[in-house]
Amino acid sequence: MSARSSAKRLSAPQIKSRKGGDKLVCLTAYTASVARHLDEEVDLLLVGDSLAMVVYGFDSTLPIGLEPMIAHGAAGGRSTAHAHIVVDLPFGSYQESPEQAFRSAARVMAETGCGSIKLEGGEEMAETVAFLTRRGVPVMGHVGLTPQAVNALGGYRSRGHDFSEREKILRDGVAIAEAGAYSLVVEGVAESLARELTEKVAIPTIGIGGSPACDGQILVIDDMLGLFAEFTPKFVKRYRNLGDEIRAASREYAEDVRQGRFPAAEHTYTSPRRPKPAKAAE
Ligand code: KIV
Repeated sequence: MSARSSAKRLSAPQIKSRKGGDKLVCLTAYTASVARHLDEEVDLLLVGDSLAMVVYGFDSTLPIGLEPMIAHGAAGGRSTAHAHIVVDLPFGSYQESPEQAFRSAARVMAETGCGSIKLEGGEEMAETVAFLTRRGVPVMGHVGLTPQAVNALGGYRSRGHDFSEREKILRDGVAIAEAGAYSLVVEGVAESLARELTEKVAIPTIGIGGSPACDGQILVIDDMLGLFAEFTPKFVKRYRNLGDEIRAASREYAEDVRQGRFPAAEHTYTSPRRPKPAKAAE
């Protein structure tokens, strides 16, 4: 990410200033080619730890480590010039202590050139968020359904339907906002809860299954393009079915190869002149 391109990028304070204003448009991106296509269309690109599931085929986000997050984060940074780039801190890289979180965040920021990091959790992570933000690391929070806690939560069900869980999620969001986060992902909660939280905090809320009440929206790119078909949560809108397109294109290619139609003349290199035979010595 060059100094020239980062000057044009949306910064964390600019994202924060959109509270209650124009909706924030966010998507995940994991590869340079996809990030390049999305860059001009969105405000923010998240290199999320959903990478573990959609790119690496794991059945949760837990197995992904810091190294792949950094490699994919750097790819996102190198290939974009406009969108704010956020990189997830993966499971186990920040929960132990604020110091551990700072070491991980500093590596991610230095080695990817991203504009901020995201971490999951509520009241218990507030001290860490304050520690990071006071040391120059802009933090996006993530409350509600927090996939890194899937084992503790007992699955990926939407959250906050009973009074005590609802109150806990409200306290979580407020604690993270007051600790200095510049924005807050609100995942998998009912509209009334997302609305109340959005009204309570002074930073933009970004919904994923968080209803239209949020200040912005995010989706996992493979979900909205129909590339990740194993499971489609209720909150996903499929804008394309690229999985079908990929299957159709590869079927055509296979047929062309088998029938000798590919490669055709236009795909084949030819030499302009035939090489002259070497003269025999006299
Ligand atoms: O990793 C991810 O893709 C996320 C989004 C679901 C917000 O955290």
